[in-house]
Amino acid sequence: MTQLQPDQTQSPPPKKTPIPAGTMSELETLIRARYPLIYIVSWEEQRVTAEATRIASKLGKGVFEWSVNTGLVASGTTLQAQKNRDTATQDPLVAMDKAVEHVDPALYIFKDFHPFLRGQNMSVTRKLREVAFSLKSTFKTIILVSPMIEMPQELEKDLTIVDFDLPKQSHFSALLDRILQEVKDNPKLNIRITPALKERIVHALLGLTLNEGENVLARALVQGRGLSEQSLEVINHEKKQIIRKNGLLEYYDAQEGMESVGGLDHLKDWLLKRKIVFTNQARDFGLPAPRGVLLLGVQGCGKSLMAKTISTLWKLPILRFDVGRVFGSLVGSSEQNMRRAIQIAESVSPVIFWIDEIDKAFRGSRGSSSTDSGTSSRVFSTFLTWMSEKKHPVFVVATANDVASLPPELLRKGRFDEIFFVDLPSQQEREAIFGIHLTKRKLDPGTFDLSQLGAAASGFSGAEIEEAIVSTMFDAFYEKQAVSTERLLTSLAQTVPLSKIMSEDIDTLRQWAANRARSATSKTGRDQSGIRQLEL
Ligand SMILES: Nc1ncnc2c1ncn2[C@@H]1O[C@H](COP(=O)(O)OP(=O)(O)O)[C@@H](O)[C@H]1O
Ligand SMILES: [Mg+2]
Repeated sequence: MTQLQPDQTQSPPPKKTPIPAGTMSELETLIRARYPLIYIVSWEEQRVTAEATRIASKLGKGVFEWSVNTGLVASGTTLQAQKNRDTATQDPLVAMDKAVEHVDPALYIFKDFHPFLRGQNMSVTRKLREVAFSLKSTFKTIILVSPMIEMPQELEKDLTIVDFDLPKQSHFSALLDRILQEVKDNPKLNIRITPALKERIVHALLGLTLNEGENVLARALVQGRGLSEQSLEVINHEKKQIIRKNGLLEYYDAQEGMESVGGLDHLKDWLLKRKIVFTNQARDFGLPAPRGVLLLGVQGCGKSLMAKTISTLWKLPILRFDVGRVFGSLVGSSEQNMRRAIQIAESVSPVIFWIDEIDKAFRGSRGSSSTDSGTSSRVFSTFLTWMSEKKHPVFVVATANDVASLPPELLRKGRFDEIFFVDLPSQQEREAIFGIHLTKRKLDPGTFDLSQLGAAASGFSGAEIEEAIVSTMFDAFYEKQAVSTERLLTSLAQTVPLSKIMSEDIDTLRQWAANRARSATSKTGRDQSGIRQLEL
């Protein structure tokens, strides 16, 4: 065990949670509004306790803590004093009775209460409802703190769920100072840290809980025998792992730049104009931070590719949100995963929140709604509410191939700034796509007849053009021949593009988009594609 680990046998003094003057946390608001039962979803009991204690002292209330091991004890009592505790209160029903009996104003923090809410534990559920009723007219509040949500339907009206924000820069800054103080005399460690590096380390820790942050720092210290530039790599690596554990989020290393996308000039323009969106200048100018964009359209035409390039263009990190997994095997824990994903995104903001193929998720949410007792719809209403109310600079970019499964709520004004329709590429765009992918594979586009290729690839998506180039290269390599326009033309002639098979679907999509979405391109050369022309 490193020195950094807090001594587990003593309850450490609660760390002070600095809250900027003038702002009131949601928890404080609810306590003041006399909500009797509050459910905080968080791993961070210590920070929650510290925040509750702060609020309690401001409002002149006592604080009690409960766990299945200690029973109900006054907060801050040492383990020593707890020896004389009332073991009967280990029983949650007895503990709640005590809380009701108490006369003085107080907060009761029940830690890890969720197992008692699981299954058919009717006596506890019923008790909570009764307690909720009787506490309403008192100055007492019960706060359940738990890393996961267990919510019996009977309690939905009585329990208010609160998300406890992840630590902010100031918390990590204090943590880092404390750790540096602890290890400063250790001769084995080389601690030379500039204010600039310190700031970068603190920034890198955002998105983690305080405990995770402490562990990551300990690891960086041990591995690097101190803190240096290299520590950042360790921290970033660890952070990626931790975030991935959430199951829904992943840091995506976007390499793709705007030059790797052929066509889609309107969309590119729109994004370029918003390049400075999250800067202070833009804010001072009075520009609202954009919320997000939905890219809708034909499969394989560069929607996902475009999403990735925003990260490079705006120089912001991109978090990929695996919305399909919300409804996978994770149902049950999906609600807190969703909340945690949102929290992480907010705490690392400004950030791009990329939801690929959002239509798939909604398809899933319909299919499963009858079997998972409303979890799906709750998860989605959480998400939709967040979309329209979010205050943090989190830019959502979502892609979808199919409109039929998208619920109208998602498309309502106020969720996305703009919906772009990404159609099959036009002649000019196909030429550009050929150019890009030939260059990417070390071939000189100047030696190919791009206009002939573009015409032959009418109806092809960008992905299909890329595929044609790659398969031609394989053949040519096998036959020890050069890749030529003729070879490419042969390969194109042998391929039936998906748009031929799915022309009806594409027509429907176009009709839908015609008056609801903006075209991602100015170059609509539909006549070339062999598919019925529509005036957009
Ligand atoms: N407009 C385009 N310009 C360049 N490459 C493209 C374009 N459209 C598709 N591609 C190629 O096809 C691949 C798959 O496209 P993708 O962005 O995943 O399509 P979508 O998300 O619209 O289904 C891309 O990674 C890229 O290599
Ligand atoms: Mg895609």
